[in-house]
Amino acid sequence: MNASHLFDKKYVFFGGKGGTGKTTCAAAFSLKASRMGKKLLLVSTDPAHSLSDIFDKRIGPKGAQLAEKLFALEIDPEAESKKYMEGIKRQLSGVVSNVVVEALQKQIDAAYMSPGSEEAAIFDKFIEIMEQAEDSFDIVVFDTAPTGHTLRLLSLPKLLDLWMDSLIEKRKKALKLLERASGTKSDDPILRILQKRKDMFEKAWEVLSDRDKTAFVFVVTPERLPIFETERALKYLENSGISVAGIVVNSIIPSEADGTFMEKRRELQKKYLREIREKFGDKVLAEIELLDNDVWGLDGLCTIADMLVLQK
Ligand SMILES: Nc1ncnc2c1ncn2[C@@H]1O[C@H](COP(=O)(O)OP(=O)(O)O)[C@@H](O)[C@H]1O
Ligand SMILES: [Mg+2]
Repeated sequence: MNASHLFDKKYVFFGGKGGTGKTTCAAAFSLKASRMGKKLLLVSTDPAHSLSDIFDKRIGPKGAQLAEKLFALEIDPEAESKKYMEGIKRQLSGVVSNVVVEALQKQIDAAYMSPGSEEAAIFDKFIEIMEQAEDSFDIVVFDTAPTGHTLRLLSLPKLLDLWMDSLIEKRKKALKLLERASGTKSDDPILRILQKRKDMFEKAWEVLSDRDKTAFVFVVTPERLPIFETERALKYLENSGISVAGIVVNSIIPSEADGTFMEKRRELQKKYLREIREKFGDKVLAEIELLDNDVWGLDGLCTIADMLVLQK
């Protein structure tokens, strides 16, 4: 049982149900990797901004350095979405006249707004970060929002790629008619933009589905609902061609916790731990105990990191 092989990946995503410990594990993993010499970028896509709270330092969208080789960024989906739409308007006003923009508004809206502008905006930001970090960081860790959001986000590149195909096809047909009517051939800027976005989504998909480069880790607690959610998420991801590298079980009640109440909870957890081992087998990378304290700051994170990485 060990999560240290994740140090060889370029992108590591931490996902799972809300409150299971995604942010805690992503932060602990990142701190550990950076202390072992990896230059690391930790990115949060959850609007809750828990990273700042855990490290007790304001991070925000501009980012901050948290330790010698550890840097972090907090993406704000709403602000990203706004910036994204403004960027698109700017991009288009540079290449076509207002009349044309108006005439193409529907197609443009469809290209950029669907299937959900906020997720599309985060996704664009993802790609931007991946491109920028490719050479400047050894590992990029993503602390994601709860399962549903993350899964939708990860299924975007394929969906958007298909969507781009249909828009490109439509645009080509329209251009053919125009060319026939005018007798001239045009180098269409809209087609160029659509093609560029298609290429970008294809590249993103290549990275996400490359198991040597990218790892998805699910954090689960020994409880009924998180187990169900993880099971569903695993199936969903594997069906869409993304393999899950492992599962971290968090918040296990330690054997020294006393009292009948704790004993009862511990017995319950034992049953769920057995279930987790049966269901997920060798995908279980680490088991982390529930600490008797809040986890924050470098010391708290180190305790978690040791359980996450240095396992028997
Ligand atoms: N092993 C643990 N021991 C004690 N508290 C923990 C542990 N793991 C997480 N927590 C606490 O549980 C809460 C939720 O954790 P968090 O990492 O924010 O979850 P998520 O990001 O999945 O929503 C936080 O207050 C965190 O400090
Ligand atoms: Mg979180």
